[in-house]
Amino acid sequence: MYTVNVDSIDKKMVLCENLYSKTGALIMRQGRLLDERIIPYLKRLGVTSVIVKDASGKVNNDPFCEYDIKGLFADSPFSRSEPQRGENNNRYERLRKDPRILLPDHTETNSLLTLKEIDRNNPFDLLREEVLFMIQNAVITFSLEGRKNVELIQKVVALFEELLEGHNEIINLLDIKATDSFTYQHSINVAVISTILASHLDYQPGEIKTVALGALLHDIGKRKTPPHIRLSDKQLSLEDRKTMELHPVLGYDYIIRNPIIPEEAAFIVYQHHERLDGSGYPAQLKGDEIHPFAQLVGMVDVFEAMHANRHYRSERNEPVEIVEYFMSLSNTHFPEKLVRVMLSSISLYPIGSVVQLNNNECGIVIKSNSNIPCRPVIRIIFDRLGFPVRGERIIDLSHSDKLTYTITRSFG
Ligand SMILES: [Fe+2]
Repeated sequence: MYTVNVDSIDKKMVLCENLYSKTGALIMRQGRLLDERIIPYLKRLGVTSVIVKDASGKVNNDPFCEYDIKGLFADSPFSRSEPQRGENNNRYERLRKDPRILLPDHTETNSLLTLKEIDRNNPFDLLREEVLFMIQNAVITFSLEGRKNVELIQKVVALFEELLEGHNEIINLLDIKATDSFTYQHSINVAVISTILASHLDYQPGEIKTVALGALLHDIGKRKTPPHIRLSDKQLSLEDRKTMELHPVLGYDYIIRNPIIPEEAAFIVYQHHERLDGSGYPAQLKGDEIHPFAQLVGMVDVFEAMHANRHYRSERNEPVEIVEYFMSLSNTHFPEKLVRVMLSSISLYPIGSVVQLNNNECGIVIKSNSNIPCRPVIRIIFDRLGFPVRGERIIDLSHSDKLTYTITRSFG
């Protein structure tokens, strides 16, 4: 292991330690194979050096490592260091580096973010920039059209920029050191998804802003939950669960005293674990007793956690399971209308994610189908034997003649 300046990163290096931003947010997990494309991103977040080791022959050098699909292509020519078909070396090499080059709307994500003046000596400005960057990426991940919908990306980023501008108190409330990186990312994702849904539900601009703020702060009470409970990955004891379930009350008490936080945003914090049938907490409210904004954010909270489970936990929730879960709880835990809007307007398979089909072909998602969210449009990149596909092979899984195809695994 050794330390290198970010400018010296090249593709023969593997990250040896988790990488955190100046504000404590997890930027990248250890074990990630690095390459020079990551340099501008790290610099943007203020990282000056990283601890790395040289990639040995045992390290999976597949480009899809960023999707955590090590081993999936173990028998594929792509898992070898050199492409097998000489005439297409350039194309294969580019594909090896980034499968998203196959996306019709492939552009650099960074180029979309255009912030107002940033004072690099001001820690609040740096944190604000980081939050907005994460918000932009969340819009790309969860919106049906990914980065293609520049208008939506800019609209949501502008909304949060306005929300955070001049309000260091809010940025301070998001201070990751007081919670943890998982809650930080989760809160941002919940805020973005809730904002997109509020737009689809034709909420007024002021209401959308309140939903965004309440969603951003919904778990703020976890700041006061002891870390051994908050960060536990084991099943909590009854006593610890009761302590954990205090976080909506603690969060509400904490922010209601802040004059810049609208009362309705505080309701979101207090009621986001209540459920329509009264089975939630802390007050076992029922139906209309739960504020509509809290019903919305409470549903998104569960959705995001299940979605994130796919990336970070051993018990993965495939999108089809997520859909079944929400359909089964429609009108008991969550309003049927909200469930319908969420499943038709939020991407279950983000554009650019890699999927494996039941016939062993692998592809990249190029378009979502809002009418059948579990059956996106796929561009096949590896055939059933693991060889790169020549030419263009597109499968729209929502077509009636493609119903025998199913997605068996997804990554990213
Ligand atoms: Fe919560």
